[in-house]
Amino acid sequence: SEVKKIAVIAGDGIGPEVVAEAEKVLKKTEELFGYKFEKEHGLFGGIAIDEKGTPLPQDTLEMCKNSDAVLLGAVGGPKWDNNSKELRPETGLLGIRKELGLFSNIRPAFVFDCLKEASTIKPEVLDGTDLVVVRELTGGIYFGEKFRRESEFGEEAVDTCAYNVMEVERIVKQAFEIARTRSKKLASVDKANVLESSRLWRETVNRIAPDYPDVELEHVLVDNCAMQLLRRPSSFDVIVTENMFGDILSDEAAMLTGSIGMLSSASLGEGSFGLYEPVHGSAPDIAGQGKANPIATILSVALMFKLSFGYQEAGDLIEKAVKDVLDAGHRTGDISTDPSKALSTAEMGDLIIAAMEK
Ligand code: NAD
Ligand code: IPM
Ligand code: MN
Repeated sequence: SEVKKIAVIAGDGIGPEVVAEAEKVLKKTEELFGYKFEKEHGLFGGIAIDEKGTPLPQDTLEMCKNSDAVLLGAVGGPKWDNNSKELRPETGLLGIRKELGLFSNIRPAFVFDCLKEASTIKPEVLDGTDLVVVRELTGGIYFGEKFRRESEFGEEAVDTCAYNVMEVERIVKQAFEIARTRSKKLASVDKANVLESSRLWRETVNRIAPDYPDVELEHVLVDNCAMQLLRRPSSFDVIVTENMFGDILSDEAAMLTGSIGMLSSASLGEGSFGLYEPVHGSAPDIAGQGKANPIATILSVALMFKLSFGYQEAGDLIEKAVKDVLDAGHRTGDISTDPSKALSTAEMGDLIIAAMEK
């Protein structure tokens, strides 16, 4: 059968630890389904700064461009936190998203019944929560002009937030399409009461909405949305929003699922190519200790199978294996109510690949 090329860039901190478990899942899928994955590994993030003097080396970028999908761990850490912009791991992350044209970041937040007690939110509030944040990924304040200047009151720093109609249209259309495949509800989140970029966002959403009469649309201001996500999480289906709002709201949504260690993501452009990474970061506080939850990264592989490769059955199998392992009571520290029984990263990965066989 056809070979899929996967670029693997593990990055920093817990990145390599969680990616190692996701690679076990790739291998198990080859065994079970007869698929063939050709993996290539590349330097990225802080480790690439240390070894090559740049967070996104040209050969790593080329490797990603020549692949069918990218599996990414996480980047960043205290070692590079005081570096200049060009020598920051996070700059490499923004660069790879931009260079690969990945304007759409899909972050599903689904509450496993057995994990309700792991969340800080009351179980009855979580009932039926199954939402997806569609985050614009290559525009807005992340990519706007940035500079410093002198002011009357000392040095001043400026970040600009810009969106054009094309950028809003393409992400909003994708979100409407995703809503169509789900519960047909779309919440567009903005700050149109204050920001000009949000007013253009809302006008654009309203112009596109008549093309999707089957989808129920609501506009929610971002501050209200942050509150409603905790008050009535199960009433949300698809949330579409600009880059920074999506970054913040998806970490908030993670806590509905019990832990940021549970949240997977897919970054897509117009075609089937995609980059798959957990929503969490490099977790310097637990890095190197085998404590990280690998489920976010493993579920990102399931997204890769479904969204880039059309391997629906293999993606479903991974999700079911994760559910079975959690249902059986297995927990890493972040989702455990009894830390003394917490599993290591590798133990959790091994249980999930074992559950894939059953
Ligand atoms: P973080 O997501 O790395 O960690 C926040 C908290 O969640 C920490 O207490 C951490 O231990 C915990 N956590 C995260 N992932 C976990 C997992 N899989 N299992 C168990 N616990 C987990 O966020 P932060 O601390 O704000 O950022 C740390 C570094 O990561 C920074 O340098 C930041 O820029 C970077 N970062 C990178 C990405 C990415 O590569 N996509 C995303 C977010 C943050
Ligand atoms: C994420 C991260 C990144 C972002 C950082 C590390 C640049 O928080 O992937 O959510 O803000 O996009
Ligand atoms: Mn984030």
